[in-house]
Amino acid sequence: MNAKIPNPENPGKKIVLLPGDGIGAEVTAEAELLMTGLAREYNVTLDVQTELIGGVAMDETGEPLPEKTLAACRQADAIILGAVGGPQWADPNADKRPEQGLLQLRKELGLYANLRPVRLHPKLANASPLKPEYLEGVDLMVVRELTGGSYFGEKQEGDEFASDACTYTREEIERVVIRAADIARERCGMLTMIDKANVLATSRLWRKVTADVMTELFPDVRYEFMLVDAAAMYIVSNPARFDVIVTENMFGDILTDEASMLVGSMGMLPSASLGAGKLGLYEPIHGSAPDIVGQGIANPFGMLASVGMMFDYSLGMKEAARRIELVIWNCISNGECTPDLGGTLTTAAAGAAVRKRMGEYYLSRVAYG
Ligand code: IPM
Ligand code: MG
Repeated sequence: MNAKIPNPENPGKKIVLLPGDGIGAEVTAEAELLMTGLAREYNVTLDVQTELIGGVAMDETGEPLPEKTLAACRQADAIILGAVGGPQWADPNADKRPEQGLLQLRKELGLYANLRPVRLHPKLANASPLKPEYLEGVDLMVVRELTGGSYFGEKQEGDEFASDACTYTREEIERVVIRAADIARERCGMLTMIDKANVLATSRLWRKVTADVMTELFPDVRYEFMLVDAAAMYIVSNPARFDVIVTENMFGDILTDEASMLVGSMGMLPSASLGAGKLGLYEPIHGSAPDIVGQGIANPFGMLASVGMMFDYSLGMKEAARRIELVIWNCISNGECTPDLGGTLTTAAAGAAVRKRMGEYYLSRVAYG
C-alpha cells in the first residue's frame, strides 16, 4: 500500500524533462525512471512534464527553444536535459541552430554557475587515455561561468569580418566566484581561478574581483590564479593538484571536455546549472553523440548523476542525492556499466542496475519495481 500522507508544506515538485536530440532521449528515459522511483520512496510528488528543445524542437516548431518550453521551465523546480545538436542541423550558416536553444534557456533563467564535478572511480583509471599513475586522487569541481563572456557578447558576422565580444561585469564575476569559494570551503579549501590575464582585459578584471571576494568574504579559503594554457597542461599532467576551479564561460567549456577524459568517458560527467534561487538545470556534459544514437549503448551515468545533483541542489534531498552517487559508484565497482567503461550493459540495463541497487541500498525494495 502506498499511503501518501498529504503534506501542505510539500505541494509537490515540478520537473521539466527536455530529452532534446540524439542520445538525449535514451538517457533522459533512465533519468525519469530513477527520479520517479525516488519520489515514490521518499513520498514526494513529482509532476514530470516533457517539452521540446534543440533540433527536434526546430523540426516541430521552427524554434530551438519554443515559447511553451521556456514558459514550462520558468514554472519548474528543476529541469533535466539530455543533449542538443546533431549533423542534420549542423549547417554553420543556418540562422537557427539547436545549441541556441540551450544557451537561451541558460540565459533566460539566469543560470550563471555551472558545476561540473570530476571524480575518478579507481576502476576506471584504465578506461582513461592517460596513464593511471597520473590519475590517482582525481577529485575536482569545475565551476564554469555560464551566462557571460564571448558566448553572449555582441556578435558581428560577415564574409570579411566577424567578432564575438567578450564582456564581463564585476557583478557577474563576483556571484560565480562566491559560489565557487563556498564550494571550496566545503571541500579542501583551495580555489584555482583560471584565466588569460597576460592577454585579456576581462581576465584582469576576473583577477581583481576574485582577490576582492576572497579577501573580504573567504579569508579561510586559499586561492591561486592560473593561466589557461598552463591549466590545460596541468589537467593532464597533475590533475590531482586541483580542488575547485572557477573560470569564465569558454575556458570552462573547453577545460571540462578535457577533464572528462580523466574519468574514462565523456558519458560520466554530470552538471548542474544554478542561479540565484533553487531552480536548476541538470544535464550530463556529453553531447548528442550521433555516432551511437539508437544503439542503446549510451552511458546513462552522467545523466543519472545529474539527477543526483538535482535532488541535492533543487529539491533539498541530500540523502537521496548521496545515495545515487554511491550506487553509481557501486555499479562501476561491479562492472555493471556500458561498453565505454568496459562493461557489456545497454543503456537501459545500466539504468536498471542503478535502480535495483537503490532499492537494495536500504529501506525500500518496493519503490523501484
Ligand atoms: C556544453 C556544450 C554547450 C556549450 C554547447 C552545446 C552550446 O558544449 O554544455 O558544454 O558550449 O556550453
Ligand atoms: Mg561543452
